[in-house]
Amino acid sequence: MQPPGGPPQKLALPNIHHVIAVASGKGGVGKSTVAANLALALAQISPPGKGEMGGVGLLDADIYGPSVPIMLGVREVVDQRTTPLPLERYGLKLMSMGFLVPPVQAVIWRGPMVHRALVQFLTDINWGQLDYLVIDLPPGTGDAQFTLTQTAPLSGAVIVTTPQDVALIDARKGLEMFRQVRVPVLGIVENMSYFQGEDGKRVHLFGHGGGQKLAAEAGVPFLGEIPIDPRVSECGDQGEPIVHKYPDSGVAKAYQALAATVIEQLGRTDKGPELPEVQL
Ligand SMILES: Nc1ncnc2c1ncn2[C@@H]1O[C@H](COP(=O)(O)OP(=O)(O)OP(=O)(O)O)[C@@H](O)[C@H]1O
Ligand SMILES: [Mg+2]
Repeated sequence: MQPPGGPPQKLALPNIHHVIAVASGKGGVGKSTVAANLALALAQISPPGKGEMGGVGLLDADIYGPSVPIMLGVREVVDQRTTPLPLERYGLKLMSMGFLVPPVQAVIWRGPMVHRALVQFLTDINWGQLDYLVIDLPPGTGDAQFTLTQTAPLSGAVIVTTPQDVALIDARKGLEMFRQVRVPVLGIVENMSYFQGEDGKRVHLFGHGGGQKLAAEAGVPFLGEIPIDPRVSECGDQGEPIVHKYPDSGVAKAYQALAATVIEQLGRTDKGPELPEVQL
């Protein structure tokens, strides 16, 4: 794994042990779902007070189309005078643009505003001590990706894909972006890999092995497969992710395995020397 040499101006987040970006070049492959459930699975392994530092945060970097409020059951804009941020749900610390403004309002935001908002989310929010901060990125390679790869001390990126060729092409683009800015790619996770019927048989609805092949081609680890389960979207819509609502389901087990693999990969990734703090 290459160390994040990157541009030398990174924010210092001394209370956050690992910052993990969940990304993909393509929309709708399940980044937000993976980010939320991975964060919950990490929190099961690393609850507050247990680890060296303890605690897991989830930062929604999708300014234009935040998913964290709905997926984690925050239905209304938060009154910051009475409700401290980050919010807490299911043991996770959460921050999203959707907590501050109604979704329609963020549409008019431009690059520099997105940049400022994300920097503030990282530095002005009282995250406390965290073992892991999982960042849910919007699709593509736009403003949020640029800001975070340039300014956040990312330990690594998890690239989400689905098995279809079209998703794999975009996942490759996402992967390449992190490589170019020298953020370690922790690996590829294939979402919606297969459907497992009651007879235990796996049906590969969208093809098979694409994520694994991409990982091999790119020389990065394959982190695992997450099955398709209609309860995933039901849980997302109802505001209680499947890892929390159905911890014994096959999907939840896949996420628990993913969390363990991500931790293993983080252990292998040399974070490199601390970079100097900068005032933005
Ligand atoms: N394993 C799965 N099984 C069934 N449904 C899933 C699974 N993973 C994700 N979904 C559903 O797919 C839809 C898209 O997921 P999600 O919003 O997480 O994707 P995304 O990549 O974050 O999208 P965007 O690019 O718009 O941010 C959601 O309705 C979600 O519930
Ligand atoms: Mg999303």
